[in-house]
Amino acid sequence: MAFTLLLRVVGLCLLLPCIVLSAYFPSGVSKAECLNRTFWIWVDKNFIGSNEWHLEVVNETGTPVVLDAELASQCGYSITIDIYGNLEMRISFLACWVVNMNDLQFDLKVQILIRQDGGFIPYPVSLSCRISDPWNVREVLCEENFMEVSVRRIVPWIVDWMTEDLQAVWPVTEGGISQRWQVEFQMPDLSTIMVSAVEAQRMGYGLNATATRVVFRAPYNTSESQIIKVGSYKLEVILAKMYYSQPLIRLIVDTTTACPSDAPIITKTSIFWLTPAILKPLVLDLVAYKDRGVSMGVDGRLLDSSVIAANGYSLSKNATTVNMTVPIGAPGGYTESDIVNNTYGTTYHIHLLLVNHWRGATADTTRHSVIKPMITPFLPLLPIFFNRTVPENRYFNVSLGNFFPDVGLKAFIIRTVMVTLDEANRRGFRVQTTDNGNGTRAFVLQVPFSDPLVEQKYLEGNKRIYILYVTYILTLLNKKKDFTYTDVVECLLQDVVPPNYDQICEKDHLILNMTRGNMDMYWIPYIRNLPLTEALATSQNYKITQRGLTLLIEIPLFSVGLVYEDITLRGIKARVDFSLKDNKTLQVRSNYSFVCNFPTDRLLLCLPNGTMKATVFSLDTKPRFDPRQTHLKDPTCKPQEADNDRALFSFSVFSCGTTRQFVGDYLVYENEVTFDRKGLPPIKPIISRNSTYRLTLRCRYPLMDTQRLAGRYNNTIIGRRGFSADPVSEQAKVIRKRDELAQASDLKVAKDETFSSFYHPGDFPILIQQEETLYFEVDERRVTSPTHDVRLHECWATPAQRTDGFPQWDLIVDGCAQKGNNYSADLVQGSPSRFQLRIEGSLSDQLYVYCQGLICDSLLESERCQSSCKEAKPGVWRRTVPMLEPYELWSTGPIRIGTGESEVQYRHVEEKSWKTWMWLLSVGLAFVAAFTVGLVILAVRLFVC
Ligand SMILES: *[C@@H]1O[C@H](CO)[C@@H](O)[C@H](O)[C@H]1NC(C)=O
Ligand SMILES: *[C@@H]1O[C@H](CO)[C@@H](O)[C@H](O)[C@H]1NC(C)=O
Ligand SMILES: *[C@@H]1O[C@H](CO)[C@@H](O)[C@H](O)[C@H]1NC(C)=O
Ligand SMILES: *[C@@H]1O[C@H](CO)[C@@H](O)[C@H](O)[C@H]1NC(C)=O
Ligand SMILES: *[C@@H]1O[C@H](CO)[C@@H](O)[C@H](O)[C@H]1NC(C)=O
Repeated sequence: MAFTLLLRVVGLCLLLPCIVLSAYFPSGVSKAECLNRTFWIWVDKNFIGSNEWHLEVVNETGTPVVLDAELASQCGYSITIDIYGNLEMRISFLACWVVNMNDLQFDLKVQILIRQDGGFIPYPVSLSCRISDPWNVREVLCEENFMEVSVRRIVPWIVDWMTEDLQAVWPVTEGGISQRWQVEFQMPDLSTIMVSAVEAQRMGYGLNATATRVVFRAPYNTSESQIIKVGSYKLEVILAKMYYSQPLIRLIVDTTTACPSDAPIITKTSIFWLTPAILKPLVLDLVAYKDRGVSMGVDGRLLDSSVIAANGYSLSKNATTVNMTVPIGAPGGYTESDIVNNTYGTTYHIHLLLVNHWRGATADTTRHSVIKPMITPFLPLLPIFFNRTVPENRYFNVSLGNFFPDVGLKAFIIRTVMVTLDEANRRGFRVQTTDNGNGTRAFVLQVPFSDPLVEQKYLEGNKRIYILYVTYILTLLNKKKDFTYTDVVECLLQDVVPPNYDQICEKDHLILNMTRGNMDMYWIPYIRNLPLTEALATSQNYKITQRGLTLLIEIPLFSVGLVYEDITLRGIKARVDFSLKDNKTLQVRSNYSFVCNFPTDRLLLCLPNGTMKATVFSLDTKPRFDPRQTHLKDPTCKPQEADNDRALFSFSVFSCGTTRQFVGDYLVYENEVTFDRKGLPPIKPIISRNSTYRLTLRCRYPLMDTQRLAGRYNNTIIGRRGFSADPVSEQAKVIRKRDELAQASDLKVAKDETFSSFYHPGDFPILIQQEETLYFEVDERRVTSPTHDVRLHECWATPAQRTDGFPQWDLIVDGCAQKGNNYSADLVQGSPSRFQLRIEGSLSDQLYVYCQGLICDSLLESERCQSSCKEAKPGVWRRTVPMLEPYELWSTGPIRIGTGESEVQYRHVEEKSWKTWMWLLSVGLAFVAAFTVGLVILAVRLFVC
């Protein structure tokens, strides 16, 4: 026996896919319940996830049947989702394959098949329900996907009429319905269609006769259904009668169904669901009609009036209308967040139930239930950002709300840095979620002012602004969709401690003693106009020591960076100009100057402007000579000052017979102090015991930079600006040019064509957009006499801060304004010192502009000053400036050319407060250094011969 059974199972497995495994839902994942007329099954959406699944029942022959949408609505199964998106199934007690015991007890066995680990795993669900309140004569159910009506078929007067053998008249057969049943549909044109039960089933209708009832079920929108207006409301109606015929007897059961089909009225605050008070097609005798009241519920369950009131719903009925009102957001429903077009908003979901009870003609009681899922359209909801910062607390306190619980906080972007919640805690931020009480929440963020991600902006005096750039990154927990909210909070505090200065003059040092404040870590130190970099300090033997808040900068006398206010035989006045500049704007934030006096000893000073200053002492020879009688190679160059013991010479390296010579990487200027003994003819050779006093003065200017450039470019690009075939004199010119560069960027840039206001050195780099025009004017402060004026000879632009940068764009060539691809230059009529440049397309991100020309004395009318534009061919490198001419060079830059967009975003210079203050400068602020690098290279070395 057991053997044959086993064989059968094996045989079955050979024919069909053998489903062996069946699993049970873990606890909490699924729920099953008996409602008044339906089975209710629920499965957590997270358990199913995105897996494929379907519902299966086993039919009378033991074959599994998959319930598709069509079969579900024909057989009384509603497979749907609840307001939270979980799987929800409602199955009518009168549905197919429900084991029905005398219409009193109903047993359901289904299985949910979920694709897991490659195959479908069946999860069986079985449920047994007893009816709690007795069936009404007629029960109508308007489900989501079908209408169902069931009518009692044992009518009292029939019972009286045939007490004998009920069962013989009313067949209760398997399958429930026999060929003896027919259905008659009444069509809108009042014609009728009569079909057999089998045919009706084929048309998608569900028919059955149970122990005590006749069941008729229809999907919505069949060709036999019609919309009927009752007052101002619409009903979907199927006017159907079921006939049972056998010889001598013909029974008619009215299986008309009607379901309200008006959409609810949704306003900003409420959902109004209006339905007709009397469902006319179901009420044949209006005179006998007795209202037994309406009740409402949610999720298929009726609610007490107390709950209805507590939830803020309202249900009212007058002669024509049942009015069910639900405020949006009320309990019982669910508010779901969403993002549409990057806007946060919500939809509100609620599944309403309306039950209408009435008594019609004799022995007719009807219960009519409507289940209506509702969802409101997307309603944008602006996030609310609050700034609750109390300046004294020294932290930002902001919050962003009000979000429903399906919105989670993921991370922040503070300024440009992504800060996860973990990181936020680690940094000492506080992140909290506060409950608003109405089901929404806000996310609170606290950020200490001291955090490096908080921007600080110095205003003036002791005022500074702390700025928090915060972006919340939020996520819709159920939809895995992110969205962001950005805001900026500022807080002004008067808490800046400025640096304090003091000075010490030592024998051969000037010492600046600075006590650090609390803002200067963001400022860049400068000595005169040189950024105080490590390179500068090393090359000039500055000694910098920092102890706590005290910073000592020792600057040796005669080192670069000092300003010599006065050099006479009485003494040397050397000045230190120290300043701290804003790291972004280069505005001077704090400065301090002091002067130290030093006695004039033996000295030779080579100043950056090409001036040599030297002293000679009469004691240096035996016998002594008279310093007043000394002169340079050019005998007309006498001391600037002299007394009995000393003489002080001051002369330009371009005068007084100074010779020039390249020695390695240096350009060496040399002159000689000579003492002419009185009475001796200077030229005629004589014989004397006393030798002539001669003192050689030599200044060495480092040349490394120019040498390297010459070596690199000379062979490949001929005629590159600043170089020529004659290296010696040309390099002298370069030196001179660089020397002039050292003075200032003296090609001024006007803010508009009126040339009335100009950018200041602190404004650089200035930013312009493509398609803008730049206005240049030569600084004429160098033009001393009114009879002098400027002849612009050549101007060019280049991306690098070098006269010979590459590429170069000609702006003026031989006095003629040039046009090129993407730019055009024009001279300003009547103002020889002005020209303009229009950028018409992309040239380069940044430009430096150089001009060379002459300062001419119009009285002397020298020939070279005649040169104005003589139609030089553009693009031809013609360098006509005579080599040894003392022409001028003007320059300006950098000028940044934007493309119009990038500057709209926040621009943050990475701004770690530099603890190792000085030495970061040479790395972190390369652009600042580049601005003045030429000056450092020009460092003047002192050689006391
Ligand atoms: C049971 O289902 C199978 C497969 O769908 C079908 O062939 C069979 O006719 C069904 N039996 C009954 C009694 O409905
Ligand atoms: C008809 O009802 C009987 C119970 O009376 C039930 O066993 C049968 O499955 C039902 N058939 C259909 C198609 O609904
Ligand atoms: C079932 O119906 C009875 C009577 O109409 C009602 O009192 C009860 O609340 C209903 N139960 C549910 C769960 O709706
Ligand atoms: C019933 O209520 C509806 C809407 O609430 C209203 O339009 C109608 O006039 C009312 N009818 C009567 C008879 O009060
Ligand atoms: C329905 O009832 C609500 C609440 O009582 C009321 O505000 C609304 O005006 C009613 N709607 C109609 C159409 O009468």
